[in-house]
Amino acid sequence: MVRLGVNIDHVATVRQARRTVEPDPLSAAVVAEMAGADQITIHLREDRRHIQNRDARLIREVVKTALNLEMAATPEMHEIALALHPDSVTLVPEKREEVTTEGGLDLKSVGPGIGDLIVTLKDAGIKLCAFLDPDLEQIKEAAHLKFQAVEIHTGQYANATAATRESELEKIKETASAIRHFGMAAHAGHGLDYHNVTAVAQVPEIEELNIGHAIIARALFIGLEQAVRDMLKQMGRL
Ligand code: PXP
Repeated sequence: MVRLGVNIDHVATVRQARRTVEPDPLSAAVVAEMAGADQITIHLREDRRHIQNRDARLIREVVKTALNLEMAATPEMHEIALALHPDSVTLVPEKREEVTTEGGLDLKSVGPGIGDLIVTLKDAGIKLCAFLDPDLEQIKEAAHLKFQAVEIHTGQYANATAATRESELEKIKETASAIRHFGMAAHAGHGLDYHNVTAVAQVPEIEELNIGHAIIARALFIGLEQAVRDMLKQMGRL
């Protein structure tokens, strides 16, 4: 059974557009869980463009399933993660100019500080995951650094044309199998929607999907609870 993590950053994006108090991502976390989400995912960005420290603290207190914190591997985020104690941390690359996370982390250029970050967070009981492109060299590096999970960046697959979709899916399948071969858990996310999710959810090695944009976009018209249920259905869960 593949788990669904619902990424609620976009709810905070709408709030921050007016620098006001609504909509509150905390409410989104509660509704998503009631609808069957297995996890709440938030990205605390360096520029705080959506999720704020206050959101992270309150969501941590309220979430009953699991909290996955996406973050850059910086000293500030390292400290925040130790204090917040999410169930898992997914390390992502971050650039101020980007609209959303572009591409996976390059584990060969992250610098020596990452070793200490991985050890201290794991010692604190937090599961460590790396967000990586479907690239075998990166998977080997993740195993070497002793990550417990890899989230495969599915952006290329999501943006593929009809002509390239199958080969992009094949890459995801091969990568998921390599991740398992190295004893890590295989997750996937980015750009997944109601049309392209089923094939990824059917990859036997994949245990978890993290999905934001498509669910929040649908929620605008039919409500978050139904949007989460519809996604679970497409994943073969309902
Ligand atoms: N996983 C990671 C690591 C991400 O950075 C994002 C985007 O914040 C997602 C999953 C969700 O992507 P989307 O919003 O396209 O579903």
